[in-house]
Amino acid sequence: MKITLSVLKADIGSVGGHLRPSQALLDEVKDFIRENGRNLLIDYYLSFTGDDIAILCTHEKGVLNPEIHKLAWEAFLAGTAVAKKQGLYGAGQDLLKDSFSGNIKGMGPAVAEIEINERPSEPFIFFAADKTDPGAYNLPLYLAFADPMYSSGLLLSPKISQGFTFRIIDVAHTEKDKIIDLNAPEDLYDIATLLRDTERYCIESIFARSNGEQAVSVSTTRLHNIAGKYTGKDDPVALVRVQGDFPATGEILAPFEIGHYVAGFMRGSHNGPLMPCRLNTTISYFDGPPVVTGAAFCVKEGKLTGPVDVFDHPYWEYVRTKIAEKAALIRRQGFFGPAMLPWSELEYGGVVERIKKLEKRFRFRE
Ligand code: F6R
Ligand code: MG
Ligand code: MG
Repeated sequence: MKITLSVLKADIGSVGGHLRPSQALLDEVKDFIRENGRNLLIDYYLSFTGDDIAILCTHEKGVLNPEIHKLAWEAFLAGTAVAKKQGLYGAGQDLLKDSFSGNIKGMGPAVAEIEINERPSEPFIFFAADKTDPGAYNLPLYLAFADPMYSSGLLLSPKISQGFTFRIIDVAHTEKDKIIDLNAPEDLYDIATLLRDTERYCIESIFARSNGEQAVSVSTTRLHNIAGKYTGKDDPVALVRVQGDFPATGEILAPFEIGHYVAGFMRGSHNGPLMPCRLNTTISYFDGPPVVTGAAFCVKEGKLTGPVDVFDHPYWEYVRTKIAEKAALIRRQGFFGPAMLPWSELEYGGVVERIKKLEKRFRFRE
């Protein structure tokens, strides 16, 4: 059976700053989907990570389907109305366009979708991150799908050892999608060369070379590039199919132990370690640290069973403590050097404006 997994995600307002949506907002979006998705969706799951709401749904309409995207857009509009009524902060923040035009891509909300040939058992993980951007997934996905130091299946499983095709997108190019397909392991150094530059090149999808099936879809929108100004970080979602021809759940999770430094954190303008947290986690220290959550499901004829909270285990307590230390260490150097992002990535105009003024006062020594 061909099934599409779609995640559509937006920040449409939150309580007490950019922390988390209100219960009334969540209820409104959920009610809207239940009422209006009846003849469209097979199943759905609503969640939040930090200030972002995600609609995970299953259907038979394929990817980029106008009806599915319109449903989500209108659900976000309904949620925004509640956010405005409650005076929530940043109400409707990610809805950057006035009217709906076919699909939600490029309109503000983030989208990750995979059309799958459903296996007899179809396990997958839905990841959602807040206070960071799509490049945050480059390292963990690279390690899980291309590095036997993290993914033992690349050595142990005959299926997985056939490798994976990485589809990488140049997010600086906004008129048209600019993508490249590279094969692991042959093109490993080319893949690594692109993925190191997390603000420019992002993994968009990954395919198993054993059967051509898509394993991964990452939302790669950059709000910055749509609006031309700061509108909040992109807070990416990802769908990752696991087991069988794909890495095991634990191999996908293993690289999140690093707590690698990602762009985002306070005002979307700093580097901070990505902390794997429990589902429905809120935001705190320095508007962060950047968080990622993971919900594991099985899907059968489109019906979801789950979620299992993949980071809700004593092991990740130990990891979170170590990552909190990494956050404290980089915060100690405030705005100096790599603690704050370079000019091109700063999400507020203050520094650039100030330098423009100072530029006039610089002089050449005679
Ligand atoms: C980062 C984020 C927050 C805000 C910060 C200031 O993605 O959402 O760190 O940038 O709280 O918010 P404003 O400018 O809305 O007052
Ligand atoms: Mg957010
Ligand atoms: Mg936000």
